[in-house]
Amino acid sequence: MPSKYEVCFADEIPAGGRRIVDAAGRSIGVFNIDNRFYAVRNSCPHKGAPLCLGVVEGYVTGERPGEFTFEREGEILRCPWHGWEFDLKTGESVFNPHKVWVRSYQVSVETEARVLATAEAEAADPGIETYAVSVETVEGRERPVLYVHV
Ligand code: FES
Repeated sequence: MPSKYEVCFADEIPAGGRRIVDAAGRSIGVFNIDNRFYAVRNSCPHKGAPLCLGVVEGYVTGERPGEFTFEREGEILRCPWHGWEFDLKTGESVFNPHKVWVRSYQVSVETEARVLATAEAEAADPGIETYAVSVETVEGRERPVLYVHV
């Protein structure tokens, strides 16, 4: 049974933003992509870099030389040390999604108030992990709170 950890008020991570938190002894990055929350472990499977400090961007594809299409803006996390790229929504690496990927977890928004994240693996641990996040309203708290489930 996964545990949940309060991250912050949901409105403290705006669309395109992130927050790195410590949950159960793990450093985790929580990202807001178009007002949906995703979380990954803040450790790159290559050499252990603080992955969540990397740039979030898209990637370029092309049908033939000289033709470029920029896709998935704001969904790809690039490691700050050597540039490995990961899909924040699936946890898969861009360069080899079937061999290098992150653990993925079901994401649930329990209310519009607080965001929670629950760590429930759907695949073997490839070296970095993703976590479910949710927003919850908490009695006595004036704003929605963000949680990560680890
Ligand atoms: S440590 Fe992340 S790509 Fe090398």
